[in-house]
Amino acid sequence: MTETASPTHGYRLQFASDNTAGTCPEALAAFNEANRGFASSYGNDEATAAVCDRLRALFERDAEIFFAFNGTAANSLALASMCQSYQGVVCADTAHVATDECGAPEFFSNGAKLLLAPHRHGKLTAAGVREVITRRNDIHYPRPKVVTLTQATELGTLYQQGEIAGIARVAREHGLKVHMDGARFANAVASLGLAPADITWRAGVDVLCFGGTKMGLPVGEAIVFFDKAMGEEFAYRCKQAGQLASKMRFLSAPWLAMLENGVWLRHAAHANAMAQRLRERIAPLAGAEMLLPTEANGVFINLPEAAIERLRAAGWVFYTFIGGGARFMCSWATTEAAVDHLARDLAEALEG
Ligand SMILES: Cc1ncc(COP(=O)(O)O)c(C=O)c1O
Repeated sequence: MTETASPTHGYRLQFASDNTAGTCPEALAAFNEANRGFASSYGNDEATAAVCDRLRALFERDAEIFFAFNGTAANSLALASMCQSYQGVVCADTAHVATDECGAPEFFSNGAKLLLAPHRHGKLTAAGVREVITRRNDIHYPRPKVVTLTQATELGTLYQQGEIAGIARVAREHGLKVHMDGARFANAVASLGLAPADITWRAGVDVLCFGGTKMGLPVGEAIVFFDKAMGEEFAYRCKQAGQLASKMRFLSAPWLAMLENGVWLRHAAHANAMAQRLRERIAPLAGAEMLLPTEANGVFINLPEAAIERLRAAGWVFYTFIGGGARFMCSWATTEAAVDHLARDLAEALEG
């Protein structure tokens, strides 16, 4: 290996997830700034009111907005509010809600069933959703009530605006609502270059879980109800689930800083660019098979087991249980030097 792996490299060897990065400087400064004096609790503070207004402006919509500590709670509580316990939520079989939330959507909805649909590159298709919705309509089967799609997907791909609208049209035809898991929504907006409204409510999305953690916040996700009536009483769900922050200003002030002057998009665009850089350097290597398009901030590669072991032995941290290969995630904190270092070590690992 070209450089010796040592703890001093810190996060430079860390490509396991975008949530292994720290808090970005803008959010950290806002967090510290919010620590002055006293403020009303449980979201009745000025920063929370301001960030909700800022999000309404961003989405060009008089939306109802809440905050939760993490994505699992945001998704699960949002989905629970969108269906009854005897109903079903259509999702891709690769969806985080199905694979990585420990049954929380089912738990918080008191039993609503996730109805798995096949995916293409991590994306639902309108035809696949229609098939799941119309498969059964008898009393013995949970009634489909929500479709949830992830943007950017768990496999690092993006739904185009038309794809979202197509799925939402099928959902509407059958009386279903549409939820979007936007843990990496920032990466999607930065990559697509479209107005947030155009890939959410204008395309038929009812509720968005807008991820803050992966874009550089210390903690906290926003739940955006584009139809205010659907958000009625949601605050009670958050409270009951232990997701209502009493010192809410520490969640909301960093959010506000991210939304000022496009900080969120700058960081997300950087993460996406680092993933592209990594792909460009790795794609030509013999033995590295690119598994999926790189449309956001993740690179998925099929590598020989021996190369994986050599990389790990050199200290590189990455997952191999998502997407069928090695997954390398980039974040706001990923440096060009780290990407180039990884690419060099990967080339050496492949040479054996
Ligand atoms: C697609 C997706 N949704 C939601 C989440 C949020 O999960 P957590 O509960 O860890 O914040 C993640 C985190 O990895 C994710 O990748």
